[in-house]
Amino acid sequence: MTEAQIAVEKENLRRYMLRLRDRQSVGEIEQKSQDIIDQVLHLHEYVRARGIACYVNKDSEVNTRPLIRATLDQEKRVLIPVVKKGDIELFYSEIKDLGSELAPGTFGILEPKPENVHPVSLDTVDVMFVPGIVWDREGYRLGWGRGYFDRVIKNLPQHVRSAGLAFNMQLIGKVPRDQFDVPVDIVVTESRVIRCRQ
Ligand SMILES: Nc1ncnc2c1ncn2[C@@H]1O[C@H](COP(=O)(O)OP(=O)(O)OP(=O)(O)O)[C@@H](O)[C@H]1O
Ligand SMILES: [Mg+2]
Repeated sequence: MTEAQIAVEKENLRRYMLRLRDRQSVGEIEQKSQDIIDQVLHLHEYVRARGIACYVNKDSEVNTRPLIRATLDQEKRVLIPVVKKGDIELFYSEIKDLGSELAPGTFGILEPKPENVHPVSLDTVDVMFVPGIVWDREGYRLGWGRGYFDRVIKNLPQHVRSAGLAFNMQLIGKVPRDQFDVPVDIVVTESRVIRCRQ
C-alpha cells in the first residue's frame, strides 16, 4: 500500500469506529469507563507513578475524568496536553483542579485556560495516557489524524510508560501503520490489560 492508500484506509476506519462508538448509551459508556479506570488505578505502573499526563475525554470517548480526579486526590502530578492553533507540536501543562482551570481549546477539547497554563516537562510523570479511536493488541492506534501524539510518544523520556484507554469494540486485528506511527506500551479495556511490548 502507498502512503496515500494507508491514509485513506485510516480515515475510513476512524469514521467507521466513531459511528460504532457513538451508538453506545451514556450509561454503557459510564459503566465501561468506570471498569477501565478501576483497572488503571491498580496497574503497578500507575500505583508507583509520581504523576500522569492525561487528556480530558470528549463525546463518546472513555471518560478520563475519574482518573484525573483520583490522581489529584492522591496528590500526584497531573499534566494536560495543550495545542496552540497552527503548531505541529503540543505541550503539557500542570493542573491542580479539574473543575475550574479548563476551557475548550483549539479542537474543542478541554485544556487549561490561558491564565492557568503552567508548562511542565513529561520528565516529571511516569505514565502518559494517549487518546485513540482505533487500537490493536500491539499498541498501534489511530488518533485524530494530526500526528501530535506520534511525535510525543517518539520523544518520550525513557522512564515514561505510554497507555491507551479503549472500549473492547475499539480493538481491531491490525491498525494500518505508516512510518511515523509509534505504538503504546499498554492498552486497557473494560475487560483486559494488554501489555504490548514485552
Ligand atoms: N513525527 C512525524 N513527522 C512528520 N510527520 C508526521 C509525524 N508523525 C505523523 N506525521 C504525519 O502526520 C499525519 C497524521 O498522522 P496519523 O494519521 O498517524 O495521525 P494520528 O496518529 O491518528 O494522530 P494523533 O497522533 O494526533 O492522534 C500523517 O500524514 C503522518 O505521516
Ligand atoms: Mg499515527
